[in-house]
Amino acid sequence: MRKGILTIAAVGLLTTGGLTACGDDSGDKAASAKTPKIGVILPDSKSSARWETADRRFLEEAFKAAGVKYDIQNAQNDKTAFQTIADQMITGGVTALMIVNLDSGTGKAVLDKAKSQGVATIDYDRLTLGGSAQYYVSFDNETVGKLQGEGLSKCLTEKGAKNPVVSYLNGSPTDNNATLFKAGYDSVLKPKFDANEYVKGPEDAVPAWDNAQAATIFEQQLTKANGKIDGVLAANDGLGNAAISILKKNKLNGKVPVTGQDASTEGLQNILAGDQCMTVYKAVREEAKAASDLAIALAKGEKKDTGQTVKDGDRDVPSVLLTPKAIYKDSVKDVIADGYVTKEEVCTGAYAKLCADAGIS
Ligand code: BGC
Repeated sequence: MRKGILTIAAVGLLTTGGLTACGDDSGDKAASAKTPKIGVILPDSKSSARWETADRRFLEEAFKAAGVKYDIQNAQNDKTAFQTIADQMITGGVTALMIVNLDSGTGKAVLDKAKSQGVATIDYDRLTLGGSAQYYVSFDNETVGKLQGEGLSKCLTEKGAKNPVVSYLNGSPTDNNATLFKAGYDSVLKPKFDANEYVKGPEDAVPAWDNAQAATIFEQQLTKANGKIDGVLAANDGLGNAAISILKKNKLNGKVPVTGQDASTEGLQNILAGDQCMTVYKAVREEAKAASDLAIALAKGEKKDTGQTVKDGDRDVPSVLLTPKAIYKDSVKDVIADGYVTKEEVCTGAYAKLCADAGIS
């Protein structure tokens, strides 16, 4: 099992290790050698625990290991604050700016401004559509969605569900990742709806991935479906937990499989309790390291060949896309073994026994 996670890490390392210098980019004002100082703008701390508990930690780890200066700030889901932070970072002399956009419009404004000031730019985790980032570093997000669709299907089969009604809690409509996740789970579930094997239930997108709003939305879905929802495709662990809270109110938790993403402490605990079917683990340490390597190279005036691009309209954006992994009850231990969360965090109180039962020692 540990081996499985190491394989992901190896894929990540291979991808990033495969970066090759390909000379400097003369059209790029950031190309002259500078002492790197990296600015990072995280999106919020509520849509997912990952931004503060994983991304900040692993980015700091990567920057410290490389001995570069950095400034990591969180826009707390405020687009005006996002732009103010970017302006301050540019004025403060960052050589590279890494953003997790709140939407493509404000993301683009920030990227274009940075570029005009000679600051190198990276789209971190979320692609800014129509943007100008020099690199995009993320996971294969369509595969994330595919793993969710396959996971839900596996759990429905295990529950012996016949013609299950499946509802969707999609991510934020302004997050390109949410679009990719949906394309992934649709590729698995739509053929089942079309073949009348599954029944398509209510579907809603959750603005800004707001977990509290997701609970209200799911409660409305359950009412609309007259209480008959047999599976919930929730796009991340926070949305999954919102659905589980409503299922609990209706004594349906554990009977209705729910998906997730991010391998958050809460998501892993929900899996151990049997209330959540699966989550998707993304090794953020690898993502942070890849982005850090690129930002440092850009500051030195080097341009790396990532060996991969992603299409954004007519633009081919050089990209690093890491491999996600599905996690079920028997593989929760792999996420802990990989150092993403600790046993102490996951196995508290009533979870201690569930952890022991799941082979977490
Ligand atoms: C990220 C997910 C996260 C979500 C909400 C997405 O762009 O890829 O990991 O759960 O945003 O923050």
